[in-house]
Amino acid sequence: MSRKSKAVLCRELNQPVVVEEISVESPRRGEVTVRLAACGVCHSDLSATNGTIPMPPPLVLGHEGAGEVVEVGEDVANFAPGDHVISSFIYMCGKCRFCASGRPVLCLEQGKALTTLPDGTLRTHDAKGKPVNIFSGCGVMAEYATVHVDNLVKIDPQVPLDRAALVGCGVTTGVGAVFNTAKVQPGASVAVFGCGGVGLNVIQGARIAGAERIIAIDANEAKLVLAKKFGATNALLAKPGEDLTKALKKLTGGGPDYAFECVGSGELAAAAYRAIRRGGLAVVVGVAKPSDSTSVRTMSLPFEEKTLTGSYFGSCVPRVDFPRMLGLYMGGQLKLDELITRRYSIAEAPQAFADLESGRNARGVIVF
Ligand SMILES: NC(=O)c1ccc[n+]([C@@H]2O[C@H](COP(=O)([O-])OP(=O)(O)OC[C@H]3O[C@@H](n4cnc5c(N)ncnc54)[C@H](O)[C@@H]3O)[C@@H](O)[C@H]2O)c1
Ligand SMILES: [Zn+2]
Ligand SMILES: [Zn+2]
Repeated sequence: MSRKSKAVLCRELNQPVVVEEISVESPRRGEVTVRLAACGVCHSDLSATNGTIPMPPPLVLGHEGAGEVVEVGEDVANFAPGDHVISSFIYMCGKCRFCASGRPVLCLEQGKALTTLPDGTLRTHDAKGKPVNIFSGCGVMAEYATVHVDNLVKIDPQVPLDRAALVGCGVTTGVGAVFNTAKVQPGASVAVFGCGGVGLNVIQGARIAGAERIIAIDANEAKLVLAKKFGATNALLAKPGEDLTKALKKLTGGGPDYAFECVGSGELAAAAYRAIRRGGLAVVVGVAKPSDSTSVRTMSLPFEEKTLTGSYFGSCVPRVDFPRMLGLYMGGQLKLDELITRRYSIAEAPQAFADLESGRNARGVIVF
């Protein structure tokens, strides 16, 4: 059986996204078909449409989705029709040394499901019957998606699906970078470069972790207002070419303990590294273009014992961390309602991408 499904596609690089009717085949062995309720629009989706993240079109976008299981394939024991699920965009083989040691974001087989299902095939075809790639094994910016069981996490049906969707990327990426990657300590000082869907979650993660000073940095004044709502104690407006190191060192008496780069720029990664105190930790979360690079003063490594590292999907284990995020939301600590600036119909998807690019939203969410 195949299901007709409206989907948001990148047809051509550097062109606006398009909404098309595609067909989504039934699940094969180890797969599940989901009827999506909502999908957040992440900067990584936009990056796939302009080549920053190389994923060849035609491509069904979307990796921050939530919905309801409608059909399960052979050998699927843990999901049944009616279950509520969130998509997870990392492939995990379960067997390599990274998967075996609880670090699935580093799975050695990750390349297997970059734009297809893990077996290298696709369940998505356009009106002419041509196969359509899917974003990171997901392609959930669509009414239906057939994905592998390892790309889904079952959740408490009490959580509204539009808010649950955000846990599929932005929330787990941001909060996970604080909890899992950096392990931010109570009383710490934290600087956050870029206060979009990801950066705001670094900010609220830092607040929940008990950070004392959280300095939000963004080039867009409106984002700084939002940042304060999510827990930032200070805000700095980034002006082109201006080095904020001095300002950050002054605010924190020598530099923040941690700095997070949530934009995707080598220049800002270097700025985050420069700003941190001796022995501090700078974490790059933003995804820069493949040609981008960053540099640090080599001498500062031995003499200042600083660390520059990265964080992929909040160093998470989806089946552990998704329920943890939802628990924090249900317990009133994690703000999800406030993250959604605007809901869009699928027909409004091009507007949702334009609004992301112009910085209008904390998060825009497409509802189906
Ligand atoms: N590491 C991961 O696993 C992971 C997961 C999801 C997203 N990402 C990446 O994280 C980045 C942020 O994603 P998002 O969805 O929050 O994007 P977003 O567009 O919502 O937010 C980016 C923010 O950066 C600000 N900004 C842009 N240039 C700036 C500058 N020079 N100085 C200060 N602020 C600046 C913008 O005003 C905006 O508020 C992207 O690169 C995305 O691809 C990484
Ligand atoms: Zn994302
Ligand atoms: Zn693996």
